Amino acid sequence: MKPIIRLEIPSDHAAIHDITERAFAPMPFSGGDEQDLIDRLRDAEALEISLVAELDGKIVGQVTFTEAFAADGSSGWYALGPVAVEPELQKQAIGSALIEAGIAMLRDRDAAGCVLVGNPAYYHRFGFRLFPQLCPEGEPAEVFQILPLRIAEPNIVIGFHPLFHG
Ligand SMILES: CC(C)(COP(=O)(O)OP(=O)(O)OC[C@H]1O[C@@H](n2cnc3c(N)ncnc32)[C@H](O)[C@@H]1OP(=O)(O)O)[C@@H](O)C(=O)NCCC(=O)NCCS
Repeated sequence: MKPIIRLEIPSDHAAIHDITERAFAPMPFSGGDEQDLIDRLRDAEALEISLVAELDGKIVGQVTFTEAFAADGSSGWYALGPVAVEPELQKQAIGSALIEAGIAMLRDRDAAGCVLVGNPAYYHRFGFRLFPQLCPEGEPAEVFQILPLRIAEPNIVIGFHPLFHG
């Protein structure tokens, strides 16, 4: 069972909203509005990369990458998330396929690196490392991670798009 991973198109928007809502609903850390956040980011043209997983013609997962902002003004930073997979199809490597395809696109763009807030037990496998000392104010330092790409040893605080804060 290998999904097609491709960029989102307008007819995917409703399915992305629906899957994100249902995938995050049972998660204790969920703010309950991840699906709306994706819509707001799209409306603001801040979805740098939105990839969907398509299986038998149906959308079964999505990952979002937005621009991230380094304190020194340097460019090329991205943030991963939200990412969601159809609940019934989780743990079948669909999330990994989405994330790996997104990281490959970041490498093609010569990205400096990618940040996220998430469970290190999951994101470690993609090369993300904890960087509590570079965590922006207001984010949980114990789960703030960076995937260093062009910048092998990041040493600046990297913040998320303002829409992540409402
Ligand atoms: C997180 C998510 C996108 C992963 O997609 P997936 O297709 O299930 O993931 P994969 O099949 O590629 O990887 C499965 C592995 O990830 C682990 N995993 C999945 N979600 C995890 C989480 N939140 N924390 C820790 N490990 C997690 C599984 O235990 C499994 O581990 P294993 O390979 O050691 O057995 C999916 O589980 C999901 O939609 N979860 C609900 C929404 C969510 O939590 N999003 C991420 C917020 S940070």
